[in-house]
Amino acid sequence: MSVDNRLKKIAGMIRVGSTVADIGTDHAYLPVFLVRNKIAVRAFACDVSDGPLDNARATVENAGVDNIIIRKGDGLAAVAPSEADTFVIAGMGGDLIARILEAALWVKDARYELILQPMTAVEDLREYLCNNGFQIVMERAVKAQGRVYTVMKAVYTGEKLLCDPLFYFVGKLGENLESDELEYITRKRRIIAKLADDIKSIESKKEKYAVLCEALLGIDRLIGNKDGN
Ligand SMILES: C[S@@+](CC[C@H](N)C(=O)[O-])C[C@H]1O[C@@H](n2cnc3c(N)ncnc32)[C@H](O)[C@@H]1O
Repeated sequence: MSVDNRLKKIAGMIRVGSTVADIGTDHAYLPVFLVRNKIAVRAFACDVSDGPLDNARATVENAGVDNIIIRKGDGLAAVAPSEADTFVIAGMGGDLIARILEAALWVKDARYELILQPMTAVEDLREYLCNNGFQIVMERAVKAQGRVYTVMKAVYTGEKLLCDPLFYFVGKLGENLESDELEYITRKRRIIAKLADDIKSIESKKEKYAVLCEALLGIDRLIGNKDGN
């Protein structure tokens, strides 16, 4: 069973003693790791498709661990609200993660911890969380297989938050500036700078250009980049 740095980082953000539902589990590597390492007392390995659920069953059988329940279902419909206190939705697009949350209104409850790891559309997910009463309480970056990913822990507070340009692009990564966070932010800065450069003389994109410039300034303040490179 291969548990890479990305899954380990997710595991590290889960409270010891939790009951975890891993939504879109595929091979169930995370639930097995969590139960085996006594991070979760019980875990649900959930997926919408049969192939991944077959993989999950094989992993759980080979690992010989108890307390893992395999469930088929679309998003959070695979579990009842009372069955878990922590939900992991990882390895999917941020837009799909937002849709999964939006389809289960009961998850808007402060008793749940959400561990979210978007592969794409990260900014859309941050914006969704801010606009829908979820607060990102912790965010860390992690490097695995040549890519740098972001992992967020979010809880529902009911308060809509401002998603300013800096937060939109780097979330809470600035609160723990270790090497993986710096690499994530530096890579993101390069992408934003290129976008800004591409639209800087287009009249109809003036507003977007201003947003990108504000994000760049914020990033430079955050990482102490005096050269603007
Ligand atoms: C790329 S895998 C990610 C596996 C694992 N979570 C990880 O981070 O390594 C994405 C998994 O999500 C599942 N999936 C996609 N949409 C889903 C949905 N609406 N509900 C549950 N599972 C879903 C897919 O079947 C697939 O097994």
